[in-house]
Amino acid sequence: MVNVGIAGASGYTGLELIRLLVKHPEVRVSALTSETYQGQRVADVFPALAGHIDLDFVRLDSSLTKDCDIVFLALPHTTAMNHVPGFLKDNCRVVDLSADFRLKSAEVFETWYSVAHSQQDILGQAVYGLPELHREQITAAKLVANPGCYPTGVILALAPLMTTDWVDLGSIVADCKSGVSGAGRKPALNTQFAECNEVVSAYGLGTHRHTPEIEQEISTLAGRELRVTFSPHLMPMTRGLLSTIYLNLVRDLTLDELDKYYREIYKNEPFVRILNPGVFANTHFVVHSNYCDIGLQIDARNRRIILTSAIDNLVKGAAGQAVQNMNLMLGIDETTGLDSPGIFP
Ligand SMILES: NC(=O)c1ccc[n+]([C@@H]2O[C@H](COP(=O)([O-])OP(=O)(O)OC[C@H]3O[C@@H](n4cnc5c(N)ncnc54)[C@H](OP(=O)(O)O)[C@@H]3O)[C@@H](O)[C@H]2O)c1
Repeated sequence: MVNVGIAGASGYTGLELIRLLVKHPEVRVSALTSETYQGQRVADVFPALAGHIDLDFVRLDSSLTKDCDIVFLALPHTTAMNHVPGFLKDNCRVVDLSADFRLKSAEVFETWYSVAHSQQDILGQAVYGLPELHREQITAAKLVANPGCYPTGVILALAPLMTTDWVDLGSIVADCKSGVSGAGRKPALNTQFAECNEVVSAYGLGTHRHTPEIEQEISTLAGRELRVTFSPHLMPMTRGLLSTIYLNLVRDLTLDELDKYYREIYKNEPFVRILNPGVFANTHFVVHSNYCDIGLQIDARNRRIILTSAIDNLVKGAAGQAVQNMNLMLGIDETTGLDSPGIFP
């Protein structure tokens, strides 16, 4: 059995990790941290976990490594990065769910996060943890930077087209909608019930921090610097993330050709499902699962491809993908602990 720890286990992604890992046959959950609930029984604070976990929350400090072979950091960005060197020094592998190690360039990080990266010497060790793109590197990694939720949905939808000459790669627009759990459990005005119920609102237009992450990965695939217009929206739902992505066609393309191509690219991917032509991605069909559903359409009148993708922001967009990465790092079947359908209704 491999001993795993979760730093930030009282947050939404931390709790999702607990839910997945207590049912995982190859690991033992051995340490859970929370500054707020330290010293309290996990199952007393979160009764949904009663009967499944027999631990107290502990403070996050370096002693975590004595109990763990691998640690998930489900911490706010810029907090996570300061803990990574200590874990790596003690031979503890790390899957960081924050944004701290996702961007390869410290300058780009500083531009978008308005703070200097404090661990520039280990930035180069981090592997971007999107298994569909970087499976081999993840398998050998000591430090995996788990992707953001929006980038996961957008990059998986776009990736196959980045190596074709079918579209104008300067024309990418990603219009995305997320459930409120995407903002985490910490209290904030915009996630209070009266502020986010019965309302759809755009935020972060042209400035959202997931933009450089999407651009980094699609640029690498395309072999040249690409930009996207990324427009996130907050939806009055708890979980789920839908992306609708537009690209201008530069040649005639049928839906049948597009469908065949996507199916070929993703034929061996356990967690990417290409929807039948005419079916569009829907968060109802992926929530509580590790699937990313991708729907395809050709808008022939306007010579555009319209892609849709749906994920659960807390599963394929965070904890599920983190477990998928852990499985790869440990050399166990990638789908272990994750192979279940979404919950609908
Ligand atoms: N929510 C999503 O859908 C999603 C998706 C992808 C990635 N992420 C990323 O995953 C990370 C966690 O997100 P989340 O949504 O789970 O956030 P969250 O619900 O706010 O949870 C944050 C956790 O970090 C702990 N924490 C906060 N400040 C800390 C500090 N200074 N030292 C130690 N622990 C501290 C909190 O614990 P206590 O308050 O109990 O101490 C809590 O357990 C973030 O970086 C986020 O950007 C989130």
